[in-house]
Amino acid sequence: MKVLFVCLGNICRSPAAEGIFRKLIQNEELHTKVFHDSCGTGGWHEGEPPDGRMTAHARERGYDLSDFRARPFDPSKDFENFDLILTMDGSNFSNVKRMAKSEDDLNKVRPFTSFCKIHDVTEVPDPYYKDELGFELVMDILEDGCEQLILHIKERLP
Ligand code: 4NP
Repeated sequence: MKVLFVCLGNICRSPAAEGIFRKLIQNEELHTKVFHDSCGTGGWHEGEPPDGRMTAHARERGYDLSDFRARPFDPSKDFENFDLILTMDGSNFSNVKRMAKSEDDLNKVRPFTSFCKIHDVTEVPDPYYKDELGFELVMDILEDGCEQLILHIKERLP
């Protein structure tokens, strides 16, 4: 099972999602069965580590984002290489879907928030121009969705 988390810049929401997901799959000892990555629909931050504010908020909850580096979504490889492509907001969702070349590609793309159980939301809001509360809300939504995502994956692993 290969999961790709997608946001706009790949420096806030999708690396935080990947950091949370990575820790949960390590706790469940699923790290040999589940591969993960993250990327952005925009390439402006390519090669950069996650935003310092996101890294700090994640670290406070026990997630290490320091080894992640931003990269843009690559339609020529990512549709083929991943089983599940989880987008953070409506704009990421439509941008990724627009790059799909087949029904199979389209079927892999799903809003991350469709996994949330506690939070009744349709998007993980972009925190880039927000304050501390914006980053905390991102963490809350991502932890909720990642916990359910693990259950979803566990049901589908051979
Ligand atoms: P992300 O947040 O999509 O969650 O990584 C953003 C990061 C950078 C920008 C926008 C959103 N930006 O405009 O540079």
